[in-house]
Amino acid sequence: MKGIILAGGLGTRLYPLTKVTNKHLLPVYDRPMIYYPIETLVKSGIRDILIVTGGNNAGDFLKLIGNGKQFGLKHINYTYQEGEGGIAHALSLAEHFADGKKIVVILGDNICEANISSYVQSFRKQPDGARILLKKVPDPERFGVATIRGSRITKIVEKPKKPESAYAVTGIYMYDKSVFEFIKTLKPSRRGELEITDVNNWYLKRGAMEFDVLPGYWTDAGTFESLFRANALVARHKGVGRS
Ligand code: G1P
Repeated sequence: MKGIILAGGLGTRLYPLTKVTNKHLLPVYDRPMIYYPIETLVKSGIRDILIVTGGNNAGDFLKLIGNGKQFGLKHINYTYQEGEGGIAHALSLAEHFADGKKIVVILGDNICEANISSYVQSFRKQPDGARILLKKVPDPERFGVATIRGSRITKIVEKPKKPESAYAVTGIYMYDKSVFEFIKTLKPSRRGELEITDVNNWYLKRGAMEFDVLPGYWTDAGTFESLFRANALVARHKGVGRS
């Protein structure tokens, strides 16, 4: 399976930290943020990776990551997103790379403790459709939120004012090849973006969406609070401050 890391956007929620660099190059404890999603994919056995980036500092990704030798990779692919079209738009740029195969997509600001290989394995066995990973969080209103009935998700609402559950949709998504045809039909949301939640709801409506709940810690890192939390979680995991 191929892996796609979405690391574009202007990171305006982190201004002025992102004025002269890309959000995904900021430090999370002892490593640049982008290292974490690369490691999540590599640990799950994925070796064929595309990074979708954008903004003024795209060249810095190449300087930092090169061909991915520090992750045990022989080669890594890059592409460029102009402007801020949303997650689904960034994903659409990966159609050529995916080449009709199933894909695992991860957002460049998602820091995840768990090894996701068993979920990737389950998706391999799934004949088609999609698979997403959920995590119970204390602040679901900041995320896509899944309503679960029995063993099925019934709907996903993007940043609901009154969340129906505490299950956030994490930025780890697995899709079959039909995702690209569907994204072509999407219209921008009120915030002017092609929303990944619309993609997930399309799979849901067709009864083609499976899910798992992530163990261990998980956080995004796109706001001051969550970036701080990401640093603290990684540091604590490494035993920093323990005497
Ligand atoms: C995005 C998605 C949201 C998801 C989150 C995970 O939110 O739109 O559904 O729960 O990533 O990190 P954003 O980071 O754009 O606010």
